[in-house]
Amino acid sequence: MSVHSEVKKITTHVLQEMKRNGEKIAMLTAYDFSLARILDHAGIDVLLVGDSASNVMAGHETTLPITLDQMIYHASSVVRAVQRALVVVDLPFGSYQGNSKEALQSAIRIMKESGAHAVKLEGGREVKESIERILTAGVPVMGHLGLTPQSIYKFGTYVVRAREEEEAQRLVEDAHTLEQAGCFAIVLEKIPATLAARVAQEVKIPIIGIGAGNGVDGQVLVLHDMLGINNEFHPRFLRRYLNLYDEIKSATGRYIADVKNRDFPNEKEQY
Ligand code: KIV
Repeated sequence: MSVHSEVKKITTHVLQEMKRNGEKIAMLTAYDFSLARILDHAGIDVLLVGDSASNVMAGHETTLPITLDQMIYHASSVVRAVQRALVVVDLPFGSYQGNSKEALQSAIRIMKESGAHAVKLEGGREVKESIERILTAGVPVMGHLGLTPQSIYKFGTYVVRAREEEEAQRLVEDAHTLEQAGCFAIVLEKIPATLAARVAQEVKIPIIGIGAGNGVDGQVLVLHDMLGINNEFHPRFLRRYLNLYDEIKSATGRYIADVKNRDFPNEKEQY
């Protein structure tokens, strides 16, 4: 038996079982081989190759510019690193909104060219047909409701969503629609905790929150925010586990000084 076959891989079914057993799901974003490998070794359940790569990897202001080819590049790097985690990949803006045939083609490219395990897309009833069509090809789909960054120009801000009754009701209906369409899980981003908890109770599939409180089935954070690589983003929901911005800056400063002072390399560091 190979070492690999001893690792209990996380599948969409395992996630649903975790919800039934009341075990919380830990998800983080990942975009490259080296960091994905560490997260997988640490025991993360789900790695999301998020279109937030557009922000944190490429420096764009929004998630809109990232392309399907770029998402596939990031996803295949992550897949090569992973033995245990489920790898979910965002369908980028413009790769699925046109029609369900386009959505299916994009999902197939991601699965075939990156080796990922599932795709995620943003939206409710308006993407139901696309979700159903992607599922016909056997590709698992994760939904995403609440704050949907690909629609930033429609809403104009990144403030908390679904505070008003009408929007909250629509979100609950959309969650049921996504469940009926066949999504295996849903991300709820930046909505009131009570509303997110209600959705998690009403639907059977796992609800993964980001800025959606503790009454859901799991949590996701953007890796660069959680590690403190990005020091300019301070939303209330973010817990920073490291301050890598300062650590990396200080290490780089010491390296620069060592080079300038002719202290690096020393005799043991040369051939
Ligand atoms: O792209 C992303 O990082 C996401 C998370 C915020 C859920 O969709």
